[in-house]
Amino acid sequence: MCGIIGYVGKRQAAPILIDGLKRLEYRGYDSSGIAVVENAKIKLIKSEGKIAELEKRSSGGKKLNGTFGIGHTRWATHGEPNTTNAHPHVSNDGRFAVVHNGIIENFAELKSELIADGCKFASETDSEVIPQLLQRIYDGDMLAALRTLESRLKGSYAVGIVCADEPDRLYAVRKDNPLIIGLGDGENFIVSDISAALRYTRKFVLLDNSETAVVTPDGIKCYDASGAPIEKEPYTVDWDVDRAEKGGYPHFMIKEIHEQPRALTDTLRPRISDGDIDLDGINFDKSYVDGLTGIDIVGCGSAYHAGIVGKYFIEKHCRIPVVNILASEYIYSDPITDGKRLTVIISQSGETADTLAALRLAKKLGSKTLAIVNVVHSAIARDADSVLYTHAGPEIAVATTKGYTTQVAALYLLGLKLAAIKGTITQKRFTDLVEKLEALPNNVTEQLAEPEVEKVKTLAARYADHHCVFFIGRGTDYAASLEGALKLKEISYIHAEAYAAGELKHGTISLIEQGTLTLALTTQTALYHKMESNIKSVESRGGTVLAIASPANSHIGECCNDMLTIPECDDDLSPVLTAVVLQLFAYYVALDRKCDIDKPRNLAKSVTVE
Ligand code: G6P
Repeated sequence: MCGIIGYVGKRQAAPILIDGLKRLEYRGYDSSGIAVVENAKIKLIKSEGKIAELEKRSSGGKKLNGTFGIGHTRWATHGEPNTTNAHPHVSNDGRFAVVHNGIIENFAELKSELIADGCKFASETDSEVIPQLLQRIYDGDMLAALRTLESRLKGSYAVGIVCADEPDRLYAVRKDNPLIIGLGDGENFIVSDISAALRYTRKFVLLDNSETAVVTPDGIKCYDASGAPIEKEPYTVDWDVDRAEKGGYPHFMIKEIHEQPRALTDTLRPRISDGDIDLDGINFDKSYVDGLTGIDIVGCGSAYHAGIVGKYFIEKHCRIPVVNILASEYIYSDPITDGKRLTVIISQSGETADTLAALRLAKKLGSKTLAIVNVVHSAIARDADSVLYTHAGPEIAVATTKGYTTQVAALYLLGLKLAAIKGTITQKRFTDLVEKLEALPNNVTEQLAEPEVEKVKTLAARYADHHCVFFIGRGTDYAASLEGALKLKEISYIHAEAYAAGELKHGTISLIEQGTLTLALTTQTALYHKMESNIKSVESRGGTVLAIASPANSHIGECCNDMLTIPECDDDLSPVLTAVVLQLFAYYVALDRKCDIDKPRNLAKSVTVE
């Protein structure tokens, strides 16, 4: 995830910026850079790879003498991870340097406009439109320029700016991306994450959405969206560095669970415009889509489970048969594929050995390949014919959370796009689903509100000492229960298995005895009565049932021991919301059992061996 640090004070800025960037390393990054203003000129040093390289290039920052500047660690979203695409980005006239976290959704439009106006872009990033726009807008009044800038940008951003004409000041603006001001003694900071400035101060001011800050060595001035000055109350933190890195959460996993509204927004919003879907310019020819004999979705672990959710969605809306295949099986199964099949390769890391091998084999056999990947320019992203990035940001906890839900979201986008091309969905239903997809991040925000989380916590404590848990569901609820069971077993070491609810009676029901816990996903209205009878058959054998239901199906609670409900959403999209409940359930069960949540035994985040 990108990181920002800005410094203004009396000391040499560059070594402080580099030190701040090192504190942000844990967030994951692929390149870094600093810009310092020295004698009214912007001096820039950037590098690909580790901050140690930036340190070497700048002699630990000693090469740059100014007392104010900005620094950035980049996690690529638009454009390869390389030195040119690293931030800060500088305007053509060299007066503005900018660091940016987030995604500028209308960057392509702004870029064309700027190019038509004679602007030359150095990088492939969305972020570079910001300094180039500023160059054109600024006429000596920086605050007015920032207001105009904000009116032109769509998307999410935390932006730090220095201007060569404006000595001893940093400018900061934000929308839907965190930016914090650190208050020191005769020096001040802007940071995306307090861990970057914790060595220098414990006093911070949180910038709210659409607010602007002007930061000088002796103070800060903040303004609201209309440009009116506002007073902000500083707060003091007593966090240690470890806690600060986790944003105050005890584990990365719970931090990442809470990052899902942002991750889903970043995955969905840039692809939806005026009720239509654009998959980053990936063009599917209608005759190709009409001629598809099938889609193979390949992945490992949670990525494989995301693919199963995708199968239900794509088959329903596109009427194209979908086969889910574990990557490790695909490569040795002599797969049947050709130019009439699409192979969708799913991988958070983009480096999983089995998945990469499957991608290469599918290509060799003549299939078109589309990768759904989180890490830009990873091996799978490089090798696939086309890529749809998930924009989840780096995941540090081994058990994936936002990686999985954003994969599901990307599959929904793909399914809807193919259905629209093929004409297997009505315009009305398409519009309806697009609107509901756009609402998903808010649905997740609702689920992560304190009272909702407390309900899950209470039930997790109630069931934490169980040794065996079944997860059941029908249709897309079955697909979602596979991931729920995996989450629980990965981090709590409880034996958990998912079954299609109708399949339980064909053997596994023999394992249900007094008190055996079954989590029953009941979000599919059309399958309500079938689920009800499956639940009753568990209860009649003494089993304990915890239902995860949609509001429409909440009367299922009458025949269950406990129930959690998800927010109102379309039945087709419920796996994202059930995933969030099941992630929280697994997390709090594991917490209760005192497990090593972020690094479960025997597991690795990225498995680069077969
Ligand atoms: C490992 C991780 C899983 C992940 C799987 C696939 O086993 O522990 O959480 O789902 O790899 O990883 P990928 O990066 O390809 O999505």
